[in-house]
Amino acid sequence: MKMKAYVRPEALYPYRAWSLAEEAYDDENNQRSESVFALGNGYIGMRGNFEEGYHGVKGNSVTGNYVNGFYDAKPIVYPEGAYGYPSRNQSMLNVTNAQCIELSVGEDPFHLNTGRVISFKRELDMTRGFLWRQVEWESPSGGHVRLNFHRIVSLEYKHLAAIQVEIESINYTGDISFHSFMDGKIAEAEVTDDPRLGSGGGEPSLILEQLEHQGELAVLKQHTRHTGFKLLTAISHQLAGTTAFESVNTKDGEKIGTEFTLKLAPGEKVTLTKFISYHTSKNEAGQELEKQTAETHHMASGLGFNKLLSGQEAYLESFWQHADVEIEGDPALQQGIRFNAFQLLQSVGRDGKTNIGAKGLTGEGYEGHYFWDTEMYMMPFFTYTQPDIARALMDFRYATLDKARSRAEVMSQKGALYPWRTIDGEENSAYFPAGTAQMHINADVAYAIKQYVQATGDEEFLVNKGAEILFETSRFWVDLGHYNEAKGGAFCIDDVTGPDEYTAIVNNNTYTNLMVQSQLNYAWETAQLLHWDYPEAYERIRKAIGLTEEEIEDWREAASRMFVPYDEQLGIYAQDDTFLSKKKWDFENTPEDKYPLLLHYHPLVIYRHQVLKQADTVMALFLLSEKFTLEEKIRNYQYYEPLTTHDSSLSPCIHSIVSAEIGDLEGAYAYFDRTVRMDLDDINRNAKDGLHTAAMAGSWMSIVNGFAGMRLTDGSLSFSPALPAQWESCSFRVMYQGQLLKVCMGRSETSYTLLEGDSVSFKHKEEVVALTGQEKTVVIQS
Ligand code: BGC
Repeated sequence: MKMKAYVRPEALYPYRAWSLAEEAYDDENNQRSESVFALGNGYIGMRGNFEEGYHGVKGNSVTGNYVNGFYDAKPIVYPEGAYGYPSRNQSMLNVTNAQCIELSVGEDPFHLNTGRVISFKRELDMTRGFLWRQVEWESPSGGHVRLNFHRIVSLEYKHLAAIQVEIESINYTGDISFHSFMDGKIAEAEVTDDPRLGSGGGEPSLILEQLEHQGELAVLKQHTRHTGFKLLTAISHQLAGTTAFESVNTKDGEKIGTEFTLKLAPGEKVTLTKFISYHTSKNEAGQELEKQTAETHHMASGLGFNKLLSGQEAYLESFWQHADVEIEGDPALQQGIRFNAFQLLQSVGRDGKTNIGAKGLTGEGYEGHYFWDTEMYMMPFFTYTQPDIARALMDFRYATLDKARSRAEVMSQKGALYPWRTIDGEENSAYFPAGTAQMHINADVAYAIKQYVQATGDEEFLVNKGAEILFETSRFWVDLGHYNEAKGGAFCIDDVTGPDEYTAIVNNNTYTNLMVQSQLNYAWETAQLLHWDYPEAYERIRKAIGLTEEEIEDWREAASRMFVPYDEQLGIYAQDDTFLSKKKWDFENTPEDKYPLLLHYHPLVIYRHQVLKQADTVMALFLLSEKFTLEEKIRNYQYYEPLTTHDSSLSPCIHSIVSAEIGDLEGAYAYFDRTVRMDLDDINRNAKDGLHTAAMAGSWMSIVNGFAGMRLTDGSLSFSPALPAQWESCSFRVMYQGQLLKVCMGRSETSYTLLEGDSVSFKHKEEVVALTGQEKTVVIQS
């Protein structure tokens, strides 16, 4: 399905360099706006719901509040089960909604669907880290007020969020009331046939234990039905602008809060600040939750809302110093790339126990599960901009290595097999052809370790954690594959699924085999490194996992004899042993409304055709770039691209990168456009279910690895810049071995500047460049 010339849709939100804004309330697309205006800090996630709720238009809203890694595990009922199928499904929970603030002007409750909205503005500010909403409203009885809402999810304090509402009277004299509360009763996600959503339905997962006022705090305690985790949500308040107010504590069903009543006259304003905390027994021991909650609120009220706001700004200043990408010449793309970086930061777990879900913390699509998306898409962004976060993501894999060992055992294999989708390390994929069979996840984790270690120089991680992961997963491969007489004794890996989920359970998926080959070589090299440079650690690991020298040699042997299917006639790598002999999909006669194919055709219909959901061999062309000649890249790309539907949002960015490499800048640009504005333009029409985090990270890769051609091959960094004709310039920053490098691509030159650190060297095309404290900038004419 050759991509037609890409025409960017009309803007849904105005193009702004540092913010996302809307000037009018769009009832019909509210769910989408709730996703894009979401706030988060990697631990707490809050969709952009309105504090006052949605009077009369409930269908257009999904109230969403999430805590990363906090899940329940409902039993999966298979009508026809089989050995080794996961028995439970972990699902990230939509937790207590603490956003609620109902406001009344006299007898009239404030809602956007009642009275008269004189003006409405909403803005997500990416430098100051808050969501702001201003509404000028006239109540049905004629009371004219101006409301300002500021909301933050603290980037500094993981358990804390806060909302501030200011109300100013324009012409109104009389009573005002704020009812600020939280609601423990959660609407279950709807049940649909779309596999990209969750399973939904069934009994509520959160069970109420207690709700009570404890001094300044309102506290709601719940536990999860199956996993038994405890959750303690609490709110506290500060009212400024008047001392003459009444407050009454309220409790109703699963709702608990406080109602404030006061008088307002024209020109007067009052401000209510609400602090919100989430603590769970997944982080703290059960009995500590109350203590931690009290401490969080004590700290928050001591600081006050303004200090929290300045904390957000300071945090983000440092973030942008390392992560900003500037695109001169296209405000839409400029906004898109910053929005993506900002949302990635908001969604990523950074405590080593949590990770980043396919939809981040913005919605319930894919049930909050972590996939290979982390290693192959999100990791590069974090490795090169926020290495500490990348380290935490790697720590997560180490923390779940035992579960990967158990999974390998269930699959009758040695070593460790990482889960295709998970929250706490257990396999959650109920559909194994596009789940457990995607064993390339092991090689993806290994690839990310190699890139992370070489980009950061964090050898400590490699020695203490990475090596063990590499050894156990390499052990798995050698046990899984076999030397096949029918293929001249080559090492073959059978019955796996590659990245392309429109082709399943095949022998010798090229992507998998090449990635495994790279992993086995790296595992062998790592074993040598440990043997010579860290003998104690080496012995400790060998003893702990019973690893023999012969096994280590087997890795190198299997790597050198790896079978990679190649078609001499076409001069390309075959996606797998049988792909090229299948019938090609009839794209000509497939109407637009039949995409994505997965929603309109039985998997078997799709599997028997040459049709791709997403980059597969093309992905290998990029990841293992050094293994292919330019001609090979061109031939493979030209064969597979027309067969690719991009029904997965993970696909366009990889095509953008490879297009750029083979010199098709127009194609690269079109794919980039589609990736970078995936959610802002709602390209896949499902932003309402949550944002596409892999595509967001992929847009960063399209610039850095695509247009700037950055590669890190066996410890050597290189760039090969080519600026799209549409742009004046484009610059970005990368952290490389503790040094911060700024790369600026112009029309006729590229400049490299060392922003932090003493020295760095790399290649610009074939030329070696070295920057030092004395010579911080180099300009190279193209
Ligand atoms: C893609 C997978 C991806 C998953 C979660 C699927 O549509 O095919 O590659 O891991 O989405 O993003």
